This record gives sequence, structure tokens and C-alpha cells, in this order.
Amino acid sequence: MRIEERRVLEALPALNVELQRSVSLAELTSLGIGGTTDLLRIHRHETIPELLKLLDAQGVAHKFLGGGSNLLVMDGELPFVVLQLAQPDPDVVIEGNIATVDAAADLGRTVTLCAKNNLGGMEGLIGVPGTVGGALRMNAGAYGTQIGSYVREVKVYRAAGRAIETLRGDEISFEYRHTSFAPDDMMLRVKLELPSKPYQEILRGIRICNEKRRASQPLGQKSAGCIFKNPPGASAGRMIDELGLKGLSVGDARVSDRHANFFVNAGRASAADMLALIANVRQRVQQVYGVTLENEVVVWNA
Ligand code: EPU
Repeated sequence: MRIEERRVLEALPALNVELQRSVSLAELTSLGIGGTTDLLRIHRHETIPELLKLLDAQGVAHKFLGGGSNLLVMDGELPFVVLQLAQPDPDVVIEGNIATVDAAADLGRTVTLCAKNNLGGMEGLIGVPGTVGGALRMNAGAYGTQIGSYVREVKVYRAAGRAIETLRGDEISFEYRHTSFAPDDMMLRVKLELPSKPYQEILRGIRICNEKRRASQPLGQKSAGCIFKNPPGASAGRMIDELGLKGLSVGDARVSDRHANFFVNAGRASAADMLALIANVRQRVQQVYGVTLENEVVVWNA
């Protein structure tokens, strides 16, 4: 979508919002799939309520983009613009056991920075790609760790009240790959309270998780991590593997040979290819196991 509305274009400089024309989402997502649209980069959190009021008043549809690492975006000219937070410097500030982290900060870098300050707990998240905001939004987790366990406070733009609010950790529910935030809420900043640990000990934990991940996941390939959530008490990856579906392809969208719950873009896969592969695998799992797998990947197809 190309922003043509004069009122919006005129307001952007005063709101400190940068307009980038015709950006390819394929270049902003780890799957390397997605069409083009205008992107608005937000430099000051405080301008968000006014910006969104303006976009809504002018009928400009929009979606929030984090790190693009758990996202499948439709092909072609997108019918919405994309909003993204600019990365402030510094994006992580550590005081005692509290790390105050901007939502745009890279998750892996945050884990490493905290480790260097002898703050541990998040070792399992080291190889999870994406931003802290994205991880928070869906309560990302790996190797027994989930980010929600360490949340002391979140600054968030809440779509319902159209305002920025600060919530205490205990006001938010964090479940497996799910939080009580509404789909249109935008994470802005989080205070994480982390246990003190010697750096060398944290580093050992980080190395172990990195090795496990390298051994079991297709890290060098374009993917969005796991496509499906694990059903209660079962593993989506194991079920898909047991059905012999590794290597199954639609165009260049392919079930990874290394981990069956990772679907990779092996070349020039389109969103349509990936969606067809997802539907196909879901149907086969449903037929054999009677379980309907739920997407973990977020799909922007309208
Ligand atoms: N397995 C297979 N074949 C496969 C894949 C897995 O048999 O192709 C088996 C494994 O051998 C293991 C079991 O299934 O016995 C579970 O596999 P794994 O340990 O790889 O964990 P997972 O349940 O598939 C979850 C998360 C990952 C996270 C890992 C490590 C979900 C949907 N996935 O995977 O998160 O990295 O545990 O903690 O919860 C993601 O969220 O995108 C993601 C990759």
C-alpha cells in the first residue's frame, strides 16, 4: 500500500516518523517471503497514539512488525502499511538485577549483554531470532526457559484504550507461546528481573543450548522457526517426522530434513506455496493422529 493521504504525509516529520517507500517484506522476514508496502519507522514511543489515531482516521490499514522471525507475509502489493520501532541507542540498560530493554532490541544480543553483567536465566533463549518485543508478545521459549518468567514490567501501546500503559508482570498472563496482550497491542519496553550468576556459568549454559540447537534445527536456512505449536503432551515435529513428511515440498517451500516442524524457503518460495504446504501437513496430521495443529507462525494474509 502506498500512503497518498496528504494529512498523514504532512504529519510524519513532526511525529518523528520516517517513511520508507515500497519496502519488500521478503527482506525483513527470516522466511524471505512477502510482498511490498510502505514502512513507517517510529523514533519516539510517545508519538504512537497520535500516529495511530491519524492512520485510523484516514483509513490507512497497518500492522506492527518486530524482527520478522516468526512471520509469514502474503505475496504482492500488501493492503496495509507496516509500522516498526527504530532501535534506540542504548537499547539495553542494566541496573542491579533489572535490565530495561527496548522492544526493538535483538533478543540474542540482550541475552549476551545481560550475561556480561552477570545476569542469567535466559540462556535457553540465546538462539531464538528476533526482537525482545516479538519474544515478549508471544512468550517465546526454548530449552525450559520462557521470557515471561522474567518480566517485571512492560510498557505497551494498548489498542483498546489507544494509549501507552505500563503493566506489572503479574498483570499479564504468560502461557505456552501465548500472552494476554491483544493482537494489536504494541510492545515498547520491558523491565526484566534476572538472577545473578557468574558469567562463566551463564556462558556454559549458552554453549550447551547453542550446540543442541545446531544439532537439531536447520539454522543456516530461511525459516520462521517452528511452524506449529506443540499440542499438549506431544511434539508436532515428531508427528510430522513419523509421517515421513520431511522433504515434502510445494514449490520451494519445504519441510526441513533436519527438523520436521521447520518449513524452509529453499529458494524462491511464495507465501501461497508455504500456506499450501502448511495446509497439506496439517491435514495429514489430522487424518492420522486426529489432532489439529495450531499455527505458531503468525500469518499476515489480509
Ligand atoms: N523430533 C523428531 N523429529 C523431528 C523433530 C523432532 O523426532 O523432525 C523429536 C525429537 O527427537 C524430540 C522431540 O521430537 O524427541 C522434540 O523435539 P525438539 O527437542 O526439537 O523440540 P520441539 O518440541 O520440536 C520446541 C520448540 C522450539 C524450541 C525447542 C527447544 C515449539 C513449537 N518448539 O521444539 O521452538 O527451540 O523446543 O526447546 O514449542 C519455535 O518456537 O519456533 C521453536 C523452534
